[in-house]
Amino acid sequence: SNPLRIALAGLGNVGAGVVKVLETNADLIARRAGRPIEVVAVSARDRTRDRGVDLGKFAWVDDAAALAEREDVDVVVELVGGSDGPALTLARKTLAAGKPLVTANKAMIAHHGLELAEAAEAKGVALKYEAAVAGGIPVIKGLREGAAANRLHHVYGVLNGTCNYILTTMESEGRDFAEVLGEAQKLGYAEADPSFDIDGVDAAHKLSILASLAFGARVDFEAVAITGIRHVIAADIAEAAALGYKIRLVGLGEANARGMFQRVHPCLVPIDHPLAHVTGSLNAVVAEGDFVGRLLFQGRGAGEGPTASAVVADLVDIARGATGPTFAMPVADLAALPSAPAGER
Ligand code: HSE
Repeated sequence: SNPLRIALAGLGNVGAGVVKVLETNADLIARRAGRPIEVVAVSARDRTRDRGVDLGKFAWVDDAAALAEREDVDVVVELVGGSDGPALTLARKTLAAGKPLVTANKAMIAHHGLELAEAAEAKGVALKYEAAVAGGIPVIKGLREGAAANRLHHVYGVLNGTCNYILTTMESEGRDFAEVLGEAQKLGYAEADPSFDIDGVDAAHKLSILASLAFGARVDFEAVAITGIRHVIAADIAEAAALGYKIRLVGLGEANARGMFQRVHPCLVPIDHPLAHVTGSLNAVVAEGDFVGRLLFQGRGAGEGPTASAVVADLVDIARGATGPTFAMPVADLAALPSAPAGER
C-alpha cells in the first residue's frame, strides 16, 4: 500500500536513530501503521559526518524549510531544535502547507505551541511531539489519551536527565557539582546550551507542556518559577540523606480553585517516594487524577533510541490517520488559568 513519505530535518543522534528504528523494525512498523513509513528527504548542516546509517538513498536539501513544500513529502519531522529560528520557520511552513508535523522540540512547543496548534487545527492535520517530553516515555499519549476521563490536579516529575545524573552521581559518590557536570555532558544528554539543563529551563519547558495537557490549560511557560541545581553542594545531599531525603530537581504543576501553579526547583524527596528511586539519567512523571488515582511513568528521558522511539510512534499515529487536537482539546477550548509563582498561593 502507499507508503507514508517522511522528511527529516536535523540529523543528530535522534535523527540517525529515527532512520535506524524505521529500518530495523520496518515490517513490524508497517503492520502497525497499516502502511510502510519511509524516509525520502533529509536536511542537515554537515553532509559528510558518519552517522552510522546509510543516507545516500535520500534526497538532500540544504534549506530545511524547503522540505515543507516538496511534493514527495507527506510528513515533516523537525529535529533541528531551538525555540525559534529555522525550526520554527520549518514548523510554520509545514503546517501552512497542510502537512502533519512531528517534533522533539520542547522549547518550540513551550513558546509557540499554541500558535502552531491553531495552524494545525486550521488545516486539520496533526502536530505531534511525544519525543519533546521525557524522551521514550509515552507521557504525552498517557496524559492526553490515557487520562482523558480524569480531572488531573497534580503533575510532577524528574524531567531532566542531565540534572538527575549530576545529582544522583553526587549522591552515590559524594562528589561536587562541578566535577560531575563535565561527565554528564560527555554522555550526550545535555542541551546544546547546557545552562538550559542545570538552570532548570529544559525541565520548565517540559513542565509547561505537561501542565497544559494535564489541566486542559493554555501552555504558559513564562509563569514557571525556575531554580536550577548550580548551588547544590555535596554537603546538602549528605544532610538531606541523614534526615531521610534525597535531592531531586522536580518540575511540579498543580491546578486548584486559585489557578495553575508551575515550578521547577531542587526538592527534598522522602526516600520512600517513587521519585527518590529515579537515578542516573532516567526521567519519571507522576500524575494524579480524580478517578484514576496516581499514575507513574518512568524510563529513559533522553538519548537516541528512546527519543527516536517516540518520534516513530507519532509517525505510526499519523500513518493511521490521526489528526488533532494537539493539546488536551482544541486551542479555543483550553482554559486560560490564572497563574502565580510558588509562594503566592
Ligand atoms: N537535555 C535533556 C535532558 C535532553 O538532559 O534531559 C532530553 O530532553
